[in-house]
Amino acid sequence: MSNRVCEVLGIKYPIIQGPMSWLTNAELVAAVSNAGGLGILGPNAGQTELTKDPVETAERMRREIRKVRELTNKPFGVTLIGSNGEFSSIFTLKILDVVIEEKVPIVLINSFGKEGNYGVEKGLLEPCKEHGIKMVVRSLQPSIADAKKCQEQGASVYVATGFDEGGTMPGVAIGTFSILPMIRDAIDMPLAIAGGICDIRTTRAAFALGAEAVFCGTLFLAVKESPCADNVKDLIVKSTAEDLVMFRAPFDYYRSLPTAICPTLIENDNNLPTEEAKQANGKAMGGVGGMRLGMLLGDLEHGYVSVGNGVSLIHEIKSVKEVIDDLMADFK
Ligand SMILES: Cc1cc2nc3c(=O)[nH]c(=O)nc-3n(C[C@H](O)[C@H](O)[C@H](O)COP(=O)(O)O)c2cc1C
Repeated sequence: MSNRVCEVLGIKYPIIQGPMSWLTNAELVAAVSNAGGLGILGPNAGQTELTKDPVETAERMRREIRKVRELTNKPFGVTLIGSNGEFSSIFTLKILDVVIEEKVPIVLINSFGKEGNYGVEKGLLEPCKEHGIKMVVRSLQPSIADAKKCQEQGASVYVATGFDEGGTMPGVAIGTFSILPMIRDAIDMPLAIAGGICDIRTTRAAFALGAEAVFCGTLFLAVKESPCADNVKDLIVKSTAEDLVMFRAPFDYYRSLPTAICPTLIENDNNLPTEEAKQANGKAMGGVGGMRLGMLLGDLEHGYVSVGNGVSLIHEIKSVKEVIDDLMADFK
């Protein structure tokens, strides 16, 4: 059973794996695409050390793209991080050059979505259109105005994100099953939903509310093909949403399973004014390096473990194929 998202992206099942910094490498992405979904390479895909050189960053992505191609001939995507101004960073523009050169068919664009900055910025929109690259757009701050702008710009799929998600959370606390029908009523274009979708019940609920695809991150952390550290996978399997702590951090909020740095993050949140709390926590979390430490290397003393509320629904470490077969049972 196909639908508009499957048709536009050329995939078998309406399930998209969300990019996760450090944690969505070629093996995971290819496994998702081979199982019938859309795999997406995220920032620092396949890496263990950060480089601050934009050319090296892009060349690393080129190697990872080629690795995906050795493992699958199915469609896959690469993430382009938008900006909160008109033009993207030099890192994103270098990766875009590689995406064009390597003829990657799909990009996931993170737009910022805040007032005055809706939709995809020109610097990404025009080259993608010119080269026929399909744009899946997920705004860090989904809103009716942002969704309408993406529709007008000709994006292929809009991803609405609920406050239940893992990773960098939206600044407006609208839960997944509240934001989905709100955005559905605002746009006619293909719509995916992110935030807490981790089993067949949440998948069915998403489709009942008008989603045409599910967009999942947390679900793909504790799978066999994930590069996540084994102790983190074990922690995910035995945790529920009740275990999560939440605090302000760049850009707005973050959640983590309790690690040794969490009391400091909560204390900053409780005691400092908003902007100071975000800055202090951004520093204490070690920026993007913090996710590498906590989740890729499994250092629960110095890092954090970002997951969404759907963590309650993950009870064992399965293969990507098993997970996708479970969620997509109604589409067979
Ligand atoms: C550990 C982690 C890292 C993430 N890193 C990124 C990222 O680098 N870029 C991005 O666009 N989204 C990132 N996300 C968000 C996911 O792509 C996806 O939108 C989100 O996980 C969906 O919600 P769920 O976790 O409830 O499934 C991250 C999510 C997690 C859990």
